[in-house]
Amino acid sequence: MAEVVIVPDSAAGGRLVAELISRRIRTNPQFVLGLATGSTPMPVYQRLSALLAGVDVSSVRGFALDEYVGIDPAHSESYRSVIRREVVEPLGLDPELIHVPDGSVDGIRTAGADYEASIEEAGGVDLQILGIGTTGHIGFNEPGSSFASLTRVKTLTEQTRRDNARFFDSLEEVPRHCITQGLGTILRARHLVMLAFGDGKAAAVAGAVEGPLTASLPASAIQLHERVTVVIDEAAASRLRFADYYRHAYANKPDWQEL
Ligand code: PGA
Repeated sequence: MAEVVIVPDSAAGGRLVAELISRRIRTNPQFVLGLATGSTPMPVYQRLSALLAGVDVSSVRGFALDEYVGIDPAHSESYRSVIRREVVEPLGLDPELIHVPDGSVDGIRTAGADYEASIEEAGGVDLQILGIGTTGHIGFNEPGSSFASLTRVKTLTEQTRRDNARFFDSLEEVPRHCITQGLGTILRARHLVMLAFGDGKAAAVAGAVEGPLTASLPASAIQLHERVTVVIDEAAASRLRFADYYRHAYANKPDWQEL
């Protein structure tokens, strides 16, 4: 079962996850961090940049979950740009060691396999940060994604395009295709940490944590993983049937049990 931690707000969730990642990086300088974009993980990165000040992060490696297909990599909302601006620069990471799937149309036939190979070469992802979409996606694995899927091209749902239109000048500008780590790729990471804030995520979170295992709600794949931490606020937790039990378990968590 996932460990579900219900926090007062996104800042508290960001602090908790940043402290966990900072501890891991201090004990393993070659840590491989799985990066997510979107609004949700931003408090993690903001807190992490403060916690890692003065720590040698020159060997930390990173892999982003996804990228839009056909977007100019220099566009401010390409995930390559977002990762550079929100993660690589503030944390002082080596840009050469931080990977984002190649969304260029020219390379699209081989980009998925190449990305899988580079994750493997790095020894796999130690901790994967995940947001969750209102469609129940993790990465850009929209409903119907196979639990065995690897990095590949997907078509975004119109719901996801509308959700992401706030980052662009118009809905028309939001790309229709993406390249994303598959659910199978994500499940290979050694620890999954999924964050969600706000009541807009409550239904997707309930489906992911407690719903039936189904490709129709791709985030339910986290139930197949042996080490999952779900960090959510009260609003995102509002449709969980066993919320009281999760609170009880966390309040009584033994000192020896790490997050
Ligand atoms: P958000 O996106 O953090 O911007 O809500 C989450 C996601 O689509 O994974």
